[in-house]
Amino acid sequence: MIQAVARAAFSVLADSQSLKRAASRYGLRRRDSFARRFIAGESVADAIEAARALEAQGLTVTLDLLGESVAARDAALRAVEQYIASMAQIARAGVGRNISLKLTQLGLTIDRATTVDNLRRVLDAAAADDFFVRIDMENSPYTDATLDTFETVWGIGYKNVGVVIQSALRRSEQDIRRVNRLGGRVRLVKGAYREPGEVAYRRKADVDAAFIDLMTLLFKEGTYPAIATHDPAMIDAARRIARETGVTPDRFEFQMLYGVRRDLQTALHRDGYRMRIYVPFGSEWFPYFMRRLGERPANVGFVIKSVLQEKRSL
Ligand code: FDA
Repeated sequence: MIQAVARAAFSVLADSQSLKRAASRYGLRRRDSFARRFIAGESVADAIEAARALEAQGLTVTLDLLGESVAARDAALRAVEQYIASMAQIARAGVGRNISLKLTQLGLTIDRATTVDNLRRVLDAAAADDFFVRIDMENSPYTDATLDTFETVWGIGYKNVGVVIQSALRRSEQDIRRVNRLGGRVRLVKGAYREPGEVAYRRKADVDAAFIDLMTLLFKEGTYPAIATHDPAMIDAARRIARETGVTPDRFEFQMLYGVRRDLQTALHRDGYRMRIYVPFGSEWFPYFMRRLGERPANVGFVIKSVLQEKRSL
C-alpha cells in the first residue's frame, strides 16, 4: 500500500519540469551525490568507467543511454546518432557489448514506421560490432507497439535483439508465449510504472505470484531468460525453478540495476550465477531516477540530505 502511494507520487513528480530543471542543476555534479548512486554519470565515458569497475568484480553490463518520450523526429534521430556513437566508444573501450534502449526514445510516440527505421539503424550498427540490444518495456499504452516492433525487426532477420515483459501486467503470459514461439530473449521484470487496475495487478503479492509463474514458463520454454529483480524471494524461487527444470546457470542470467542491492549482485556471482548490471547514463536521467525513488521511499531521505549538501557546497 505504502509502495503504491509512493509510486503514484513519484510518477507525478517525474513529469514536473521545474523539479527536473532543479535536479539537473544539482543532481549528478558531485561524484558523491545521491543520484550518482543510481546513474553512472552524464557521459558515455562515465558509463564505461562504471562498467569497468563492475567487470573487474566479475559482473557483466548493459549500458542504457537515458531518454524517453521524445516528441520530435529530429530528437529521435539525435538519440539514434548518440546510440551509434556510444556503441563505437564502448567497443573501443573493450567493455561489454550490450545496450538497453526505450522505443519512445526512438520515436514511438510519433509513429511506428519512424521507430522501426530508427531501431533498424541502431540494430545495424549493433550487429556490425557484435552488440546485443535490449528493448526496455515502458508503460502499458506502449506494450502492443513495443512487442509489434520487436516482432517486425525479428521477422526482418535481426536476432541481436530482445525485449522486456512485466509481471504486473495481466496480459503478460500471452506475451511471453508469443516471444517464446519466436525464439526471442525475454528480460522478466515486475514493472516500474503506475498502471490502471484493469490492465495490471495492484497488490505486490499478485505481482510476485505472476513473476514466479512467468519465470517458470521462461525456464521451461524460453531462450536464455534474464531474471531482473532485487527481491530475495524471487531470486530464491529462480534458483529453485532453474534446478527443477534442469536449466544450468549458463543458460540464464540475473540482472539488477546499477547501485541497487550491490551485496546481492556480488553474492550471486560468487555462487556461480551470471549477473548483468543495467548501467544508465546521460543527461535525461530525471524520470529514471524518480522511478527508482518510487520503488523505495526510504531513498527520499538520502536525496534530501544530498541536495542540501550540494547547495551548501555551491
Ligand atoms: P521490489 O520492488 O519488490 O523490491 C525488492 C527489494 O529490492 C526491496 O525490498 C529493496 O531491498 C530492493 N530495491 C528495489 N528497488 C530499489 C531501489 N530503487 N532502491 C533501493 N533498493 C531497491 N521495469 C520496467 O517497467 N521496464 C523495464 O524495461 C525495466 N528494466 C529493468 C532492468 C533491470 C536490469 C532491472 C533490475 C529492473 C528493470 N525494471 C524495468 C524495473 C522493475 O520493473 C522494478 O521496478 C524494479 O526492479 C524493482 O522491483 P524488484 O523486482 O527489485 O522488487
